Amino acid sequence: MNKGLAELFQVVNKDKRTIVGLMSGTSLDGLDIALCEFTGHGPQTKMVLREFATMPYDTSFKQEVKAIFSKRQVDLEKVCLLNAYIGSFHGELINNCLQDWGVKQHEVDIIASHGQTIYHAPASLHGIPVMPNATLQIGDGDHIAVKTGIITLSDFRQKHVAAGGEGAPLAVYGDYLLFSEKGQNRIMLNIGGIANFTFLPGDLDTKRIFSTDVGPGNTLMDAYVQKEYPGKYFDLDSDIAKKGTYNTKLVTALLDHSFFEQGFPKTTGPELFNLEYLEHAQQKSGTTQLSPEDVMASLNRFSAIGISDALQRTLKGEKFEVFLSGGGMHNPLLIQNIEEMVTGLTIRNTAELGVSPDAKEAVLFATLANECLVGNQINFGPGQTRVPSVHMGKISLPA
Ligand SMILES: Nc1ncnc2c1ncn2[C@@H]1O[C@H](COP(=O)(O)OP(=O)(O)O)[C@@H](O)[C@H]1O
Ligand SMILES: [Mg+2]
Repeated sequence: MNKGLAELFQVVNKDKRTIVGLMSGTSLDGLDIALCEFTGHGPQTKMVLREFATMPYDTSFKQEVKAIFSKRQVDLEKVCLLNAYIGSFHGELINNCLQDWGVKQHEVDIIASHGQTIYHAPASLHGIPVMPNATLQIGDGDHIAVKTGIITLSDFRQKHVAAGGEGAPLAVYGDYLLFSEKGQNRIMLNIGGIANFTFLPGDLDTKRIFSTDVGPGNTLMDAYVQKEYPGKYFDLDSDIAKKGTYNTKLVTALLDHSFFEQGFPKTTGPELFNLEYLEHAQQKSGTTQLSPEDVMASLNRFSAIGISDALQRTLKGEKFEVFLSGGGMHNPLLIQNIEEMVTGLTIRNTAELGVSPDAKEAVLFATLANECLVGNQINFGPGQTRVPSVHMGKISLPA
């Protein structure tokens, strides 16, 4: 038998698996690396987060990726080169982290790699009748496996698309396995570039559980800061937005898109919510002369309304606890805006459930890998919630 396959078989049969989960979202801030220990699978999953780090991307890396990220027309050679480069670079970052943590490569059973999303095109975005939902993550798993010598599972989203989903949000699987609790209605709200949440009713009825994107989290705010304040990447501690006042006309124009009326679940990305989207809304509302501070305050308010409206539509008067994760939770004005708009809500973060909110997404991909190796399929929702019951991830052997 191929030595790598024999090793994989051995990992599958272990009681405890050490899995490194990776996440690099649309914010392009860095690679999140979570060292997780799993016992069991499915509803019996137990996960302990042993180590976590975000390895920040430097300016030149960000620029390379931005040259192709969410753009309809790009230099195809760059896509080809970056696919290999990002895989190998992520492998290097993992090796560095393991060294810092004093963990040897052979102590890690599996790497679970998300890759870098460069384009996300659900049918609702591209609108071409003969074309399916589609999404593309690069940073090939073979490069990670060869660089680290560790079996790598990657490219989780393609199977989801192949099975009828939009390739996102995949959080539902891990959120259910790690965070659902009988008798407690929970919403796991992740505010990354795009904001999404998973609805976990306390009756644990998998038919009611779903995950959905709700609109921009930080993506538009980040893009605007990067344009107007060269050298800055995001509105640190909402400093800029706090100096401005939101403009109701602009906020209304920003909210005037069919995405916000679509039912759940749905997905989106910076392919829609980008600077052109903002410029269009400014022109439509006659607010092109606003100060950058007022624009930032308006964008902050816009993200908060998208999130709050979606929460309110889901809560329907029931009592829920919201557990936050993702970089947006560090934006105080955004959280204040959300708290103001959704009455009677207790907002906490996932640290209270044993997982650092910055690590959560990386942990979820490690969980998907654990399920891919040993889990059973879970039947989420009736057809209309479009959460396919499949195992995701492609296997790359190191040698
Ligand atoms: N202190 C902070 N103040 C305001 N925003 C922050 C802060 N820390 C992080 N963020 C926001 O979080 C983003 C990163 O969030 P993250 O969850 O990593 O998103 P993604 O999954 O898209 O990479 C940053 O780009 C920034 O917008
Ligand atoms: Mg990130």
